[in-house]
Amino acid sequence: MITGHVFIATSLDGFIARENGDIEWLLSRDDPSEEHGYHDFIKDIDGLVMGRGSFEAAVRHDTWPYDKPVLVLSKKLAPLPVPERLKGLVRFSDLAPQAAMDTLAGEGWRRVYVDGGRIVQSFLREGLIADMVITQVPVIIGAGRPLFGLTADDISLTHVSTKVFPSGLVQSHYRVEK
Ligand SMILES: NC(=O)c1ccc[n+]([C@@H]2O[C@H](COP(=O)([O-])OP(=O)(O)OC[C@H]3O[C@@H](n4cnc5c(N)ncnc54)[C@H](OP(=O)(O)O)[C@@H]3O)[C@@H](O)[C@H]2O)c1
Repeated sequence: MITGHVFIATSLDGFIARENGDIEWLLSRDDPSEEHGYHDFIKDIDGLVMGRGSFEAAVRHDTWPYDKPVLVLSKKLAPLPVPERLKGLVRFSDLAPQAAMDTLAGEGWRRVYVDGGRIVQSFLREGLIADMVITQVPVIIGAGRPLFGLTADDISLTHVSTKVFPSGLVQSHYRVEK
């Protein structure tokens, strides 16, 4: 069985980036001496599914930040070739969430890191997320790209744990109830 997993940071008011994509408010709070569990999380992941917004942010880095395979869901990018430096690491696809997960399951993937606000929202709506680790940064940015959005029905969560870091980050782990 394949499952989706979220590991993401938000402002206290629930945004993952400013409207223009800026995440400096988040990066500036990152204390490299603090271990927030990303390495433990990513080591059990077979690969990532992300939206075009997250891909376009990641590809701006000098170094591609992921060593696991990445499937980018995007109608705009799907017909285009993957940039040369990312061949073998990244694929573009316009599959819908369930079809993407079925395809990845067929390739032997079991645990998928689902990243990006709009992508997380659509995977949640389709019941494809098993759990979420959400790290809240103690800042209110007022507007931006939200982690959560409209849902057809309530999505019930089970609180698993919460850690408070000396930097003020508050990280909560939730399981999504079926
Ligand atoms: N705070 C954090 O931890 C964190 C983590 C990840 C990303 N970010 C930031 O968040 C921003 C990106 O998030 P985002 O919410 O704007 O975009 P996103 O979810 O990464 O990507 C959304 C795009 O994905 C495509 N897409 C394909 N299938 C989709 C589906 N089923 N549902 C929704 N979208 C689908 C659409 O592009 P097409 O029109 O091409 O189909 C859509 O515009 C970036 O600025 C990034 O830096 C922050």
